[in-house]
Amino acid sequence: MLFFKSISNQILKKFNSKKLQLHEPVFSKVEKKNLKDCIDSGFVSTSSNGFFIKKLEKQIKRFTKSRYAICTINGVSGIHASLLALDIKKDQEILVPSLTFVATVHPILYLGAIPHFVEVEEKNFGICPNKLEKYLKSNTYKKGQNLYNKKTNRRINGIIAVHVFGNPCDIIKIRAIAKKYNLKLVEDSTEALGSFYRKRHLGTFGDTGVFSFNGNKIITSGGGGVVITNSKKIYKKVFSLVSNSKVPHNWEYIHNQVGFNYRMPNLNAALASAQFDKLKKILKIKKNIFKNYKKIFANYTEVTLLNTAKDSTSNNWLNTIIIKDNKIKKDNFIKYLYNKKIFVRPIWKPLHTLKHLKKFPKMNLKITNKIYETSISLPSGPGIIR
Ligand SMILES: Cc1ncc(COP(=O)(O)O)c(C=O)c1O
Repeated sequence: MLFFKSISNQILKKFNSKKLQLHEPVFSKVEKKNLKDCIDSGFVSTSSNGFFIKKLEKQIKRFTKSRYAICTINGVSGIHASLLALDIKKDQEILVPSLTFVATVHPILYLGAIPHFVEVEEKNFGICPNKLEKYLKSNTYKKGQNLYNKKTNRRINGIIAVHVFGNPCDIIKIRAIAKKYNLKLVEDSTEALGSFYRKRHLGTFGDTGVFSFNGNKIITSGGGGVVITNSKKIYKKVFSLVSNSKVPHNWEYIHNQVGFNYRMPNLNAALASAQFDKLKKILKIKKNIFKNYKKIFANYTEVTLLNTAKDSTSNNWLNTIIIKDNKIKKDNFIKYLYNKKIFVRPIWKPLHTLKHLKKFPKMNLKITNKIYETSISLPSGPGIIR
């Protein structure tokens, strides 16, 4: 109890506030001006004349140094379009962490494909490449170029690597595994705009990388996302899939396959584009918030703050603490902080424990379960520093 009280007092004092939300967006006049300009232009929707969509895609390409960017209505549609563009088929298995938001995995099921849950590591909450490699060695076989699950005899055709809370996972090793076993690689970088691994922006290591501009993300378009890729072939496929598979023509309606209305509206892009101009400033503020938490938690042995590896740069999207040696009870701590109006959040319930996802293949997920039991994310929005 003493610990709970001391921590909550320190957090409220440090951020000079009586109430702290988990992650709220911050807007100023620029967003309003962009939105007004967009409304005045008459192009508010997904039309190819959307000035702000084009502008936002340019900003993303420049910042991430990726060759192509396609804005979508949200991150989950970007993951769906990525898997389709990479030719993932029904009944194929996709290796994916269980420790992620459910939107990483649902697109696998949209295709009738099968999530195969893999273990993560404590140091960054991302896929553990060493355990994955060992697991693949003893649980799969190769036929020609393709990889198969020994138990189910289904083809394993891809990996979705997730950068949890903006913290880079060991993406170089994961990419090496993908190459070795001939697996497609999608980076769920939805939480990781502004995060780098060895100075290279996340999302540029995989066949595609997907970002989210949901209201709780580092910058927002209200709802929105973007797929980035360096492959012209993948770019063309994703672009077509998210645009109802419309064949470009000035007036004719020609569609060459089943497609989706997944393109970001200009109105949302107008909001995100103004936010994008502030990204570097927001990243600095977020670094400061992290440093503040580091100072607070340095004085306690009950919890540690999740840190970033030396060769990585995190956008510090959600600062997260980990309870050490069962020294405190997670739910009691969350309840206490809620009563003090500090709106923390537990990490997602591991997906392999959810009713509709229980039946899918999985590795030993001991660390995944442990992280769920012991971690709590802290208020981290750029508005909490005054
Ligand atoms: C890890 C992860 N994957 C996927 C998504 C889906 O993004 P969106 O909400 O934009 O569809 C989110 C964000 O909400 C997320 O946090």
